[in-house]
Amino acid sequence: MLKKHFLKVPLALTFFLLCQTSQAGDVQNGKVLHQAKCYQCHAEKSGLGNGDILYTRLDRKAKDLAKVKSMVSMCNTELRLDLFPEDEADLVTYINQQFYKYK
Ligand code: HEC
Repeated sequence: MLKKHFLKVPLALTFFLLCQTSQAGDVQNGKVLHQAKCYQCHAEKSGLGNGDILYTRLDRKAKDLAKVKSMVSMCNTELRLDLFPEDEADLVTYINQQFYKYK
């Protein structure tokens, strides 16, 4: 019984580390996080019932990739969402790929 878990933990850890290093930004993780932590408030604040419109509206705040990063960071720290830096990076990758499409 105990032996089984002995094997599982390092294996899971190895896999986790491999995933972390092989990808610059995990879009899927960003998408899940966005749905869980960001979408709802953006939907309410925009008054449109859609949390994605914020990013594509004409007078959007984030005019380039650096600004996207700083806005994500601002929402995270300002609202105390407690995201890890890796999660922030994944969110930036996701919303940029999906909405802003900056190079
Ligand atoms: C409690 C509410 C709230 C939550 C939760 C929240 N945000 Fe925001 N966010 C806002 C508001 C309000 C604005 C608009 C600020 C403005 O227009 O000055 C905004 C703006 C942004 C923008 C800039 C949009 C633009 O105009 O280009 C980005 C990017 C962003 N948020 C990312 C995130 C991410 C990523 C998360 C989740 C980790 C998140 N936010 C969670 C309230 C929230």
